[in-house]
Amino acid sequence: MAFRFKSRLDLKVIACFGIGFLVFQLIIVLLLGNAPLFGHVHDDLEALNDVSIECGVVLFVFEPSLLGLLRDGYKLVDHHLEYPSSKPVSFAVDSSLIKNSSNVYRKIIPSLVSRKFLVETVIDSSTNPYSKWPIALLARRNSATFVIRFLHDREDNSWWFGSLQKDPNFNRKLERFGVDKSNVFLEESLLTKFKSRAINLKGYDTSNIWSPKYPVEFIKEFKKSKFIECNQTRAKALEHFLEQGRNVDKLRAVHFTHKVHKLLSVVKTVFDSLRVPFWISSGTLLGYFRHCNVIPHSKDVDIGVFADDFSESIIAGLERRKIKLHLWFGESNDSLELSFLYHNLKLDVFFFYREDRIMWNGGTQLKSGKKFKYVFPQFDLCWTIFLGLKLRIPCETEKYVKANYGPNWFIPVVYWDWKTSPYNVHQNGDWPLDKRKSVIRVY
Ligand SMILES: *[C@@H]1O[C@H](CO)[C@@H](O)[C@H](O)[C@H]1NC(C)=O
Ligand SMILES: *[C@@H]1O[C@H](CO)[C@@H](O)[C@H](O)[C@H]1NC(C)=O
Ligand SMILES: *[C@@H]1O[C@H](CO)[C@@H](O)[C@H](O)[C@H]1NC(C)=O
Repeated sequence: MAFRFKSRLDLKVIACFGIGFLVFQLIIVLLLGNAPLFGHVHDDLEALNDVSIECGVVLFVFEPSLLGLLRDGYKLVDHHLEYPSSKPVSFAVDSSLIKNSSNVYRKIIPSLVSRKFLVETVIDSSTNPYSKWPIALLARRNSATFVIRFLHDREDNSWWFGSLQKDPNFNRKLERFGVDKSNVFLEESLLTKFKSRAINLKGYDTSNIWSPKYPVEFIKEFKKSKFIECNQTRAKALEHFLEQGRNVDKLRAVHFTHKVHKLLSVVKTVFDSLRVPFWISSGTLLGYFRHCNVIPHSKDVDIGVFADDFSESIIAGLERRKIKLHLWFGESNDSLELSFLYHNLKLDVFFFYREDRIMWNGGTQLKSGKKFKYVFPQFDLCWTIFLGLKLRIPCETEKYVKANYGPNWFIPVVYWDWKTSPYNVHQNGDWPLDKRKSVIRVY
């Protein structure tokens, strides 16, 4: 911190005050008989703060248990901050603020070492674009182990950070610190950039240790931040294969991709504002998985939504953004599928139902009232970047695509019939005649 003392007298006063304060603290500690452990964590946090000041960066607290203690005014009110070394405390640094990446080694590590931190770098030796960066630093001074991750700018106002497990020596490094792996967040992640503000640890200078402005929301998002990068190796390998013998109208393809991007970004705005998760599904997911792009000869955009999340406000929200409801099939508890039109681009929204150990969505034939059922293995949702947008996909992407398109998912199909072509389609009876008017609606 850049402040100056007016005179030596001030310094003495402050020093005396400081010593007095320390004695006072010591008495409190002795009186409470409470482990000196928490004092150490506070000292360690202050030392970490000094490091961040020296390196000109702000450290974000990522540790959910620490964020959970923040109260009004971003005060850390609970003074029993006890962190055994087996349970590391997570922090992050916005790496775009570190102009020259060799500064990481040149400054942060020596700065930690000079404050008696034991330091270990976690390194990704594979070919990811940030591999010249460590994924994280492990640092320990007294009792607590700190994990400092590096956040990298990504599309759609996001921050990316790498998976600690990419380091081939990760287990050995954890062991050196006595860290229990089950206590560490291991995944590669994508987070929407958050606003932040300084925290206030009574009696300590932690002015460069900041917290996400909305810690509760942040904790929720952090837990579900697992990220999967589109596999460009696969895309390159299949590129030649997919274009073979095809007359791809390049201009139409570019135009179509722009429209899909526009539609998906509006859909994302609407669903995000309702806090309803959705994922790209069917043909849109196949295009992503096969070549990290839109299938040039496809005609619509497909997304999945959990049926439990259905509400009329989804329709109202989309319509307000000029995405007009065109077809309604099924009812909210059975085979719900909604089709919308955005200019002349179709958006299919499939609602997914959980059943025992599977997930399924339904289809309905407009003319006959026949029902169909598409069965998928259970899946979780992960983030990816598709067309420059932060979007969800089923984490078990290949299983999902295989369930839908069969083992030959990578072979382009020229003639596609939604009732018979999918690998996972089953006939599912007919809608009763007296129900048809309500379960099949054309707008
Ligand atoms: C980064 O810093 C190192 C060490 O000072 C220096 O050798 C290197 O040229 C710098 N790189 C850039 C891109 O400024
Ligand atoms: C990417 O795809 C290729 C080819 O299908 C595969 O061999 C490789 O393991 C994939 N990479 C990742 C990180 O999944
Ligand atoms: C769905 O709800 C309707 C009433 O709204 C009911 O008649 C129907 O049996 C339900 N279907 C299923 C599969 O539970």
